Amino acid sequence: MSSKSAEKRLRELEQLVEKHNHRYHVLDAPEISDLEYDRLFKELETLEIKHPDLKSPTSPTVRVGGAPLESFKKSRHEAPMLSLMNTYSEEEFLDFDMRVKKLLELSDDAQVEYHVELKFDGLSMNLTYADGVLEKAATRGDGEVGEEVTANIRTIRSIPLRLNTSNPPKRIEIRGEVILQIADFEKLNQEQEKREEKIFANPRNAAAGSIRQLDPRIAASRPLTAFWYGMGAADGYQPKTIGEFHDTLQAWGFKTGKNWKICQGAQAVLEFYREIHAERDSLPFEIDGIVVKLNSFRQLDQAGFVARAPRGMVAFKYPSRQVTTTIDDIIIQVGRTGALTPVAILKPVSVGGVMVGRATLHNQGEIDRKDVRIGDTVVVQRAGDVIPEVVSVVVEKRTGREKKFEIPRECPSCGTEAVLKEGEAVIRCPNRACPAQFVERVRHFVMKDAMNVEGLGEKVVELLVEKKLVQKLADLYRLEKDEILRLEGFKEKSTQKLLDAIEATRKTELYRFIFALGIRHVGERTSKSLAQHFGSFDALMQATQSDFESIHEVGTEMAAALAEYFGNAENRSEIAELLREVELIAPRKNAEAGVFKGKVFVLTGTLPTLSRTEATQMIEAQGGKTSSSVSKKTDFLLAGAEAGSKLDKAKDLNVRVLSEEEFLLLLRK
Ligand code: IVH
Repeated sequence: MSSKSAEKRLRELEQLVEKHNHRYHVLDAPEISDLEYDRLFKELETLEIKHPDLKSPTSPTVRVGGAPLESFKKSRHEAPMLSLMNTYSEEEFLDFDMRVKKLLELSDDAQVEYHVELKFDGLSMNLTYADGVLEKAATRGDGEVGEEVTANIRTIRSIPLRLNTSNPPKRIEIRGEVILQIADFEKLNQEQEKREEKIFANPRNAAAGSIRQLDPRIAASRPLTAFWYGMGAADGYQPKTIGEFHDTLQAWGFKTGKNWKICQGAQAVLEFYREIHAERDSLPFEIDGIVVKLNSFRQLDQAGFVARAPRGMVAFKYPSRQVTTTIDDIIIQVGRTGALTPVAILKPVSVGGVMVGRATLHNQGEIDRKDVRIGDTVVVQRAGDVIPEVVSVVVEKRTGREKKFEIPRECPSCGTEAVLKEGEAVIRCPNRACPAQFVERVRHFVMKDAMNVEGLGEKVVELLVEKKLVQKLADLYRLEKDEILRLEGFKEKSTQKLLDAIEATRKTELYRFIFALGIRHVGERTSKSLAQHFGSFDALMQATQSDFESIHEVGTEMAAALAEYFGNAENRSEIAELLREVELIAPRKNAEAGVFKGKVFVLTGTLPTLSRTEATQMIEAQGGKTSSSVSKKTDFLLAGAEAGSKLDKAKDLNVRVLSEEEFLLLLRK
């Protein structure tokens, strides 16, 4: 392709991909299949690699997340991010309406025009666009200075990298809320749980936690989205009403949400408030109220400010979804790695439309802090309205018959003395042979993202372990037909189905096997990196803690967990036994389809996060080669700090020089 036609195609693809991003992520109205989308994306990426000079800084390929940052930079907002006054009842809202009329010098029975919209419960964000291009994204911080999180925000596909207008304002700050939808939040927590990683209390915390990650690839992997409703400093744009601004936001490509309205007078606002309240449980995301704003910017100005809040706007909150019930019992759940978690068994109760029968009490510290006892009447909430949690005890309801609870010193499953490691809140059963832990380990082993034994659910695992048919992981592969037939509920057909499902997993990909072992802190993603890095299980078993630490995605804590796991004789013999049953398929080297197919790299200097071996492996995995000296045949020089003569030579020969960040960007997808 000539460079002219390449450029034409490139621009076309950029627009196409962004258009389909917008249709899918903002309008909820995709026009093409995911497969077709991926094809366009890939074509764009490939062209950009071939013609790096033509790549635009607002290309949709930047959304896959760049290299990790050392820390977040501070960023001063051009106009401060203010807050809202709150009202909690219809009376309070009517008072607000009266106050507003006084400020606007209107009569008491005048009907003020309000713009009403949802109050999204997320992380507030300030985007700065310069000449229509996203320049910066920053968190609210103290309202004056926030943290710059542009790399993370760019990964959110519903956020325009460039405003969809031929006549953008010179500069403008756009404000909104980054959120996770409830279903995505629940899925994320399930994944976090499987990986034994942090469980988020609610979608808001999950969104905030995702944005506060220094590695943009984490944000990229989370299905974040955002709603936009506000404006900070603006140069070259001055709408007359909030309604007009709202329409402009939509036209520019922002997601604004569908539930908003212009109301004449307070009664119409109350109707909207009640309507949304009734719909609240069926919205796919969390809201904590509505926001009522004077529609006219002139009137907003006239109303002025009190403290750091505009007097012409108010947050009209809904009561939080809390109910009271009683604690019938407190039980201890034993996790896969031995964590003993106290769980309150509640008299079942409906909280915001969801029946709740259990609530986590986290750990002893939490129980003591809240002074929770068996028999107590407690206030329960679905924190962020999803995970049930005991908020507090209704002490007035105590009868004196309540029983204090202390997490037993022994594991309730095997009786082994539990240990509390210094600095940890969670007490653990240290016995690897503990039956409850073992059930959890088998459940993890057969899970979909691990070995993927279809149809082997929790109950059957429990049964197999209880009947001692499975006492080690490898026993799964030695089950006999007549043993299973004797189990309750198994007939000829279901038995055969189970055996076939297990049989089908005898040949499995390396990463699945690594993940299936259930090593602490090692999730699916890390397992993939490990498989890619080491290429074989043998190599992985030989690795030392510092070998693990040299891998891009592996932190100190995880490296220690890996070293500890593979250093343990019991684990090693369990693995050896499993490997007599299971055959591992090495990771697919996509050298054929690799993005660096046929490209020659030279490495120089110290890269910020990658080791040389790692970078070389990544290049080779994508079909590229490395060479030690720069020549006319070199396609890329991957240069880190203190790059010497190779860098000069590359510049002389017009060889493209890549930073680690650029290199990783090319690698994504
Ligand atoms: S307007 C002067 N509109 O709620 C502040 N805020 O409790 C203008 N929020 O800081 C804010 N949804 O982060 C506005 N539709 C909405 C909102 C909204 C959520 C957040 C925002 C604000 C906080 C105040």
